[in-house]
Amino acid sequence: MRVVCCWPKPKRTVREICEELILSQENLKEVCDVLHEELNKGLGKDTNPEATIKCFPTYVRELPNGKEKGRFLALDLGGTNFRVLLIQLGEKCSMDSRIYAVPQPIMVGPGDGLFDHIAECLASFIKERELGDELLPLGFTFSFPCKQEGLTKARLARWTKGFKCAGVEGRDVVELLKAAIARRGDVKIKICAILNDTTGTLMSCAWKNHNCRIGLIVGTGTNACYMEKLEKVELWDGDLDEPHQVIINTEWGAFGDNGCLDFIRTEYDNNIDCESINPGRQLYEKMISGMYMGEIARQVIIRLVAEGLLFDGKSSEILEEKGSFFTKYISEIESDKPGDYNNCRVILEELGLNSATDTDCANVRHVCECVSRRAAYLAAAGVAVLLNRIGEESVTVAVDGSVYRFHPHFHNLMTEQISHLIKPGMKFGLMLSEDGSGRGAALVAAVASRNSR
Ligand code: GLC
Repeated sequence: MRVVCCWPKPKRTVREICEELILSQENLKEVCDVLHEELNKGLGKDTNPEATIKCFPTYVRELPNGKEKGRFLALDLGGTNFRVLLIQLGEKCSMDSRIYAVPQPIMVGPGDGLFDHIAECLASFIKERELGDELLPLGFTFSFPCKQEGLTKARLARWTKGFKCAGVEGRDVVELLKAAIARRGDVKIKICAILNDTTGTLMSCAWKNHNCRIGLIVGTGTNACYMEKLEKVELWDGDLDEPHQVIINTEWGAFGDNGCLDFIRTEYDNNIDCESINPGRQLYEKMISGMYMGEIARQVIIRLVAEGLLFDGKSSEILEEKGSFFTKYISEIESDKPGDYNNCRVILEELGLNSATDTDCANVRHVCECVSRRAAYLAAAGVAVLLNRIGEESVTVAVDGSVYRFHPHFHNLMTEQISHLIKPGMKFGLMLSEDGSGRGAALVAAVASRNSR
């Protein structure tokens, strides 16, 4: 006789539903092993064409010695804002900068439009600061995956984050910038270096901190670079002179694009990917960085509402809108003291959810914690792999980006997890790197001109 159970299926709890966002130590170890293999593929000459993590050599071979000096211009494109900076390095350091908006239509319009906009901002900065008479060296921080062919030649491999300008992929962005400046004909500049924000972050920290070997960004996007020995970079086609090392821009945001992270991806990650402007790409980045974290949390919250586990089963129009739960909300909600829900309530009210109970607030906080902890642990796994590869006893990791900067626990979560994943006996520290994209660009330009003298 078959016994038919007529009890209703017990309802799953909020904690149970969020469990799939929690990574076990085994999961994280596996992520490390796979990442290590994928980095090897990126660095190998024969395996690189098929590799998802491209490991681009940057042509930056030397770290600053702290004695660099001079005045430099820097451009910074690829984060939340576009900035033009004037940097003074030396005994007296200073920085003057201006932020310019990049309107959404420019971010996804024709490439010439983007470079004309950059040139226009640069020209207006030079005029405002009356710098027209000097031919200042300029470092261009361009935070997208580029195949570098030298310090001043970088072909965009593909757009990431919110950019998608036609006619730029495959082209040398330094040439595109020079052409835009030439079209205007009103400013003269000397482009000395093009670099990724991770390289800038590493250089900026290494200026004063001589065991810095890794640059990490957890902001709008995520990526890391590190100093690698030339003998491990099969891909390297430059000279073999001293120093036998080069900074590798890993472009680890693309980790997982071949399916190797599917064992930890969830339906939320899948939805976010499908709705993005670059489906199937940057899958690791989409689990970690600020451009996506808020949206992951929103997807989980919506699911909980649909299951009747939040807000009495009632959503709001704003909450239903894609992108309405900003990543900064996660930082703000987790900044509330435990048991206190001030920020959480203000945010829920902004979202049109006015009658949240304390239990609702506690559950929303739990969702945020699961999403941010997963991001921090995944970034930590990446850093641990790089630390293990470098194998030095004590290494400083330079870090920048809005998520790392503003999330109240990201630093501690990462530090705790890295210590579990590195080889015994190694020491490391995560250090906030002040303004890598500006000062770092100036330092790359400075180190480059030191060597060309
Ligand atoms: C994206 C870009 C990468 C950059 C990172 C952080 O992953 O592809 O070049 O370093 O965002 O800004």
